[in-house]
Amino acid sequence: MSAEASIQDELYKDLIPGEIGCRRLTSEDRDLMVDLTLNHFLPREPICSLTEKKSPGKMGPFLRDVYTKNVIQDNASLIAYDIKSGEAVGIILGNLHRVGEPHPPVLDKDIAPMARLLDAVNVDIASYVGEDVYLTIALSTVKETHCKRGIMTAIRKRIELVAKELNCGYVTSESTSLYTQLISSKLGYDTKKEIKFAEYVDSVTGEYFTKDIDPPHYCVKLMIKKIN
Ligand SMILES: CC(C)(COP(=O)(O)OP(=O)(O)OC[C@H]1O[C@@H](n2cnc3c(N)ncnc32)[C@H](O)[C@@H]1OP(=O)(O)O)[C@@H](O)C(=O)NCCC(=O)NCCS
Repeated sequence: MSAEASIQDELYKDLIPGEIGCRRLTSEDRDLMVDLTLNHFLPREPICSLTEKKSPGKMGPFLRDVYTKNVIQDNASLIAYDIKSGEAVGIILGNLHRVGEPHPPVLDKDIAPMARLLDAVNVDIASYVGEDVYLTIALSTVKETHCKRGIMTAIRKRIELVAKELNCGYVTSESTSLYTQLISSKLGYDTKKEIKFAEYVDSVTGEYFTKDIDPPHYCVKLMIKKIN
């Protein structure tokens, strides 16, 4: 069997045999991607939920209309679904990048601190991924009703096959949740940079922007795994 055929076989295997399946996110999934992003990721992810608390009503439109706008076209995202009901229960959104590619500035003053924090954690990315195309995990979540069953662990492992298929040298993750940090460490990612929420000062406003994030989450980590 060719390497390509075996990647395809592995890609769509059940995440939990007989219970949770895995498939590619396509343009037909836009609405369910938006639902998972706005109703399951935004209220629970440490930095988005903080930004939402500080500036109500701002994060949703940003995530929907800007942050995830072009993600489907990279074909680097997966959905976890309940095999019996078909319900989507989790998602991992991947973007393809190459160092030096310009990315549009975030102009909204309420969202900009979050963007600057993510820039700060990525400041040395070029020294880790070089010239290679790499897959960045832009967003990941599992519905609360389906948590702690290993779904995120399994789908994060599976995204490595997507990266391989798309000839990416690395998978990178800006992990803000203690749980995804633990998952990524377990999967063999290296932590390249860590910014503690209690100590981070926004370079423009001078504010301790992340000081009120609730434990157990305590830092954002740039985590990287070499693929090819
Ligand atoms: C973080 C998240 C994706 C984890 O999904 P999940 O499917 O529950 O993760 P897994 O079942 O694969 O759990 C992996 C590990 O984290 C632990 N864990 C996950 N959620 C936990 C919780 N709420 N409390 C304690 N431990 C937790 C699990 O026990 C497991 O550890 P183990 O392997 O030692 O048993 C999910 O909680 C979520 O969507 N959170 C909100 C959005 C978010 O923060 N996304 C990530 C941004 S970087």
